[in-house]
Amino acid sequence: MAKTPSALIVDSDIQARFEMKQAVKACGLTLAGECGYGMEAVSAATELRPDTILIGVGEPIERPLQTAEALQSLLPETPILVYSETKDLETIRKAMMAGARDFLAKPLRPETLRQSVLAALESEEKKKLRQLGQLPAAPTAGTIVTVFGAKGGVGKSTIAANLAVALARLERSSVCIMDLDNGFGDIAGMLDVKPERTLADMVRDIDQIDRDDIQRYVVRHPLSELDVLSGPSVLEWRSLSAEQVRRVVDLVARTYDKVVIDTSGMLSELSEMTVDIATMVLWVTTSEFASVKDSIEAFRALSNLSYSQERIRVVMNAISPDDVIRPAILQDALGREVFWNIPYDRKVRQGTHLGQPIVITAPQSTAAKSLADLATVVAGGRIEQGRKTLGGFKWRPSAEPVTAEGRIGSIAKET
Ligand SMILES: Nc1ncnc2c1ncn2[C@@H]1O[C@H](COP(=O)(O)OP(=O)(O)O)[C@@H](O)[C@H]1O
Ligand SMILES: [Mg+2]
Repeated sequence: MAKTPSALIVDSDIQARFEMKQAVKACGLTLAGECGYGMEAVSAATELRPDTILIGVGEPIERPLQTAEALQSLLPETPILVYSETKDLETIRKAMMAGARDFLAKPLRPETLRQSVLAALESEEKKKLRQLGQLPAAPTAGTIVTVFGAKGGVGKSTIAANLAVALARLERSSVCIMDLDNGFGDIAGMLDVKPERTLADMVRDIDQIDRDDIQRYVVRHPLSELDVLSGPSVLEWRSLSAEQVRRVVDLVARTYDKVVIDTSGMLSELSEMTVDIATMVLWVTTSEFASVKDSIEAFRALSNLSYSQERIRVVMNAISPDDVIRPAILQDALGREVFWNIPYDRKVRQGTHLGQPIVITAPQSTAAKSLADLATVVAGGRIEQGRKTLGGFKWRPSAEPVTAEGRIGSIAKET
């Protein structure tokens, strides 16, 4: 983020203004200023040029709403967010008509305020880029994130499950996770849900179903409202072609805002399809020799198959202070930047055993924070600078050069 977004608070109630100032500071925004309604607000907004305007709406609602309307026509690119104690739908509707981007209910959680401000700024930025022709028109299908990796046991399913849960918990998006590991898929187990139907049923019925029918094939993860489409048994997988599965992915992507796909650790027609169809591929590897080596080989195989690779983002998982290999060496060996680092965390393993994604059950753990930040970025949001590439984790550079680095460094040449 270039700078911390600033907010102007517009409210005639001094106590409410004070509470809002606390919330603004608590959630890491900058306070641009504060003022009352009417001309006072118009002058303050023109002078201070805040990134966003927060207007308190109490009874009588006319004056705050007139102020919102005036500010909206004066500064159409500055998102206006309204906060209020009321739950009256008519007031909410009028506030939206007056140009509010969001209606926040009091008492307000700082995190809700932050998410709302960031979402409003994000959508404003996208609108501008779209007008400049730098972004395609809004897509007709949701974002597909394929979690891939050239090996088993590197954390693909863990990352896919936690990412999907975290995405579903971000406001206003519907998310489906598809278990396309045609070995032994374990997303249902990781989320402790019991599917009654699987992808094989959807493949069979695909000609008769449309978006409204998908609910019959998925099972809902109650804590996050994430929908889970499980894979069939390993034997049933054998009778499904990559093309049949692609049709299901197409339908799911036209139904949900975001689709997360978990995959096996094998290069096959099916997994290549999941890479091909993805908006973004999170390529999971650990810093272990075998994992890095297999990733390099798989990158080569995919480029020989002429898959476009710009969408592939490397996620380094289970980074631990005991790791002796520095990120720069890994990046050199992989021939691409590491997009994300997820630390090693015992809580992850416990969560896997219990069928509890740690982004819900241990949100303060280092790995959960990193996974939640990853979800925010995947959803197009922003996080504080510095947290991004380190995933909330500090690398400790090794005191002296270690031979493992030399070994990793030489893989690229050997293979
Ligand atoms: N960041 C991490 N820290 C600690 N353990 C992890 C981490 N990521 C994954 N694990 C553990 O590693 C094991 C394998 O993970 P899994 O997601 O099943 O891998 P894959 O899907 O690539 O085969 C699981 O027991 C999981 O809890
Ligand atoms: Mg797996």
